[in-house]
Amino acid sequence: MSIRKFVAVLAFAGVAAHAQTPALKDAFKGFFRVGAALNPAQFEERDTIGAGIVRSQFNTISPENILKWEVVHPRADAYSFDASDKYVAFGEKYKMFIIGHTLVWHSQVPAWVFKNDKGETIDREGLLKRLEDHIKTVVGRYKGRINEWDVVNEALNEDGTLRQSPWLKIIGDDFLVKAFQFAHEADPKAELYYNDYSVENTPKREGAVRLIKKLQEAGVKVAAIGLQGHDKMEWPTLEQQDATIQAFKALGIKVNITELDIDVLPQATQQRTADVSLSIEAQAKLNPYVNGLPEDMQKALAKRYADLFTVFCKYKDTVDRITFWGVRDSDSWLNGWPIRGRTSYPLLFDKDGKPKPAFQAVVDTAKKKK
Ligand code: G3I
Repeated sequence: MSIRKFVAVLAFAGVAAHAQTPALKDAFKGFFRVGAALNPAQFEERDTIGAGIVRSQFNTISPENILKWEVVHPRADAYSFDASDKYVAFGEKYKMFIIGHTLVWHSQVPAWVFKNDKGETIDREGLLKRLEDHIKTVVGRYKGRINEWDVVNEALNEDGTLRQSPWLKIIGDDFLVKAFQFAHEADPKAELYYNDYSVENTPKREGAVRLIKKLQEAGVKVAAIGLQGHDKMEWPTLEQQDATIQAFKALGIKVNITELDIDVLPQATQQRTADVSLSIEAQAKLNPYVNGLPEDMQKALAKRYADLFTVFCKYKDTVDRITFWGVRDSDSWLNGWPIRGRTSYPLLFDKDGKPKPAFQAVVDTAKKKK
């Protein structure tokens, strides 16, 4: 039978393309877990293509949005665990290493959290009480079931100083220590992370090293730093990636890549104009691949992914997990940020669920290292 005929027979039999490929979770056995962030359509298995890829390719899952404060705890007197219960059930059904994201963040927190009954800014004690209640309720509900929590997310500025978030302004800089302590008390066996982006840049990396050291000095057990890994084609350099892993390895913690994607689209500019035609031209320029990613870009993306995975594999004793921020290109947040409605190609599976050349390039890095 010709290859074309064979593929046609498989397609007729309803065998998905991703099922024909090696599984990432198998390719990287002995290196690290490989996972993806899921949306409700995937963990409720309504998105049959997406869920199929997750089941066959990954051994760890993260919740893209449904464990954020505004979703799980929208009002002072109301928690909403409908989605997170389903997410955890999906993870258990398929024996995934289950991640919780995220307990303390400056974003996606309802305004009530920072106000008292009079509508004024709440005081330190009041906010600490809310923080403790939130963390112990959410972590406690999934004790022994969610294996790892991103306890604090994005607490740093680009220059390595602490972000002036309501958490910092109202509680003070011990909000980090407190958050980790509450999470540890709620589930002593869960692995606790500090998670952030752009940590590959020296000033922020140094700030993150200081932050982790302070937590360690306070007796807090930090299992890992999560490098989000929202990468570009040219950034971070492989040297930056390598140096970043080394910097945290030296602190005796794991270094995990928690939100990996690679943005191939042109960077948005700051240009402001009222000229409609210019605006249209500018938008088209920033969204050049609406009809598909050209061959040369596919190759460049594959090489970029392979280069990064070569660094990750070098640190297999330190890197424990690599999680992609989405399953298929069409799921990615990069279709909507920083410009809405673009067609982005940051992941290993295309919009139809077919593995892209980057998929094979990534798998091959594991073969070379074995
Ligand atoms: O669920 C509501 C829906 O009810 C409403 O109709 C719709 C209208 O805009 O919005 C929906 O919420 C959106 C949500 O994603 C779910 O799709 C929010 O507007 C949107 O802001 C939110 O974006 C998420 C973003 O975090 C902010 O929470 C992205 O999907 C998610 O990928 C992104 O993930 C973050 C990580 O948590 C932390 N690191 C950076 C990463 C990328 O920004």
